[in-house]
Amino acid sequence: MTASTNDIEKAAGVLRTGGLVALPTETVYGLGANAEDPAAVARIFQVKGRPPSHPLIVHIGSADRLDDWVQDVPPAARLLAEHFWPGPLTLVLRRGRRVPLEATGGLQTVAVRVPDHPVALALLSAFGGGITAPSANRFGSVSPTTADHVRAELGDGVDMVLDGGPCEVGVESTIVDATGDAPVILRPGGVSREDLEAVLGCSLAVPSTSRVRVPGQHPSHYAPRARVVLVEPEKVVAEAELAQELGHRVGVFLPPAFADAAVKAHAVAAVPASMAAYARELYGFLRELDQQGCDLIIASLPTEEGLGLAIANRLRRAAGPRPTV
Ligand code: TXA
Ligand code: MG
Repeated sequence: MTASTNDIEKAAGVLRTGGLVALPTETVYGLGANAEDPAAVARIFQVKGRPPSHPLIVHIGSADRLDDWVQDVPPAARLLAEHFWPGPLTLVLRRGRRVPLEATGGLQTVAVRVPDHPVALALLSAFGGGITAPSANRFGSVSPTTADHVRAELGDGVDMVLDGGPCEVGVESTIVDATGDAPVILRPGGVSREDLEAVLGCSLAVPSTSRVRVPGQHPSHYAPRARVVLVEPEKVVAEAELAQELGHRVGVFLPPAFADAAVKAHAVAAVPASMAAYARELYGFLRELDQQGCDLIIASLPTEEGLGLAIANRLRRAAGPRPTV
């Protein structure tokens, strides 16, 4: 089960010798490498099947070390780091010299965060350096929230998997670009827009999937094998039953208001009323419905407040147009 001190020492050794370690964070599992080892960083892209132009997040052990990795930290970024780290917030800042261009996809900015998970923090402390880690899934697919998900998806591609139990938050970190005059949310995530605004004392633009153009963010991402179709909550049951009658193997995300409905579908995931619980379960639901052989998932969007903003963003992307191969 949960990684022992021995496992953590061993994992730090794997990182020092250029290996890859999958590590738990409070958001999702990451596929980690020594951030300062370009060859190890290159292996991450290989194992994930991710284009090398997509920048990674550098995980560090504490907010005090931020200036080792970035330059020119504006006061707003300092405030956010002090307030939300360790936690599910990533700050994009000007790249420090320690960070190789391989980790930033060639950009002069770098994404940094301090994860809030005892195993990740113990590994960062034992290793001593920064760990660059994307989510530990194949490019474009659903992020892993358990060690089993990582093993199932990456298998032998990773040298060691540290088990830290199921992730508490369940969706990725909120990414804030703090390089400009006013911070901008690039990706909604585990820290809500409302909480960021309360600390900053100003309002932040609501990101839109169609408008935001960030390297490494595609309309189709976080996608299960099954096609995902979004409908109004009150239409979920009827649409699911119709598609099932038409011969699909339908998986349903049943909204909490319809929890008592007996749906004629292939598989049902009961959406929790609490957004925190929904975020925690979201990727597990998508994996589960895939595993049950669903070819179509019918879901609806939650209200886009608090964690609902990140959940809606991931569902939209899961439903986004798939690249044609
Ligand atoms: O919660 C998380 O953030 C997880 C855990 C493992 O920390 N990590 C994660 O990494 O979600 P990944 O690689 O799946 O997503 C990181 C995203 C990239 O897709 C990219 O959009 C953005 O961060 N990013 C990284 N560096 C950036 C930069 N310099 N400028 C703009 N966006 C950047
Ligand atoms: Mg990812």
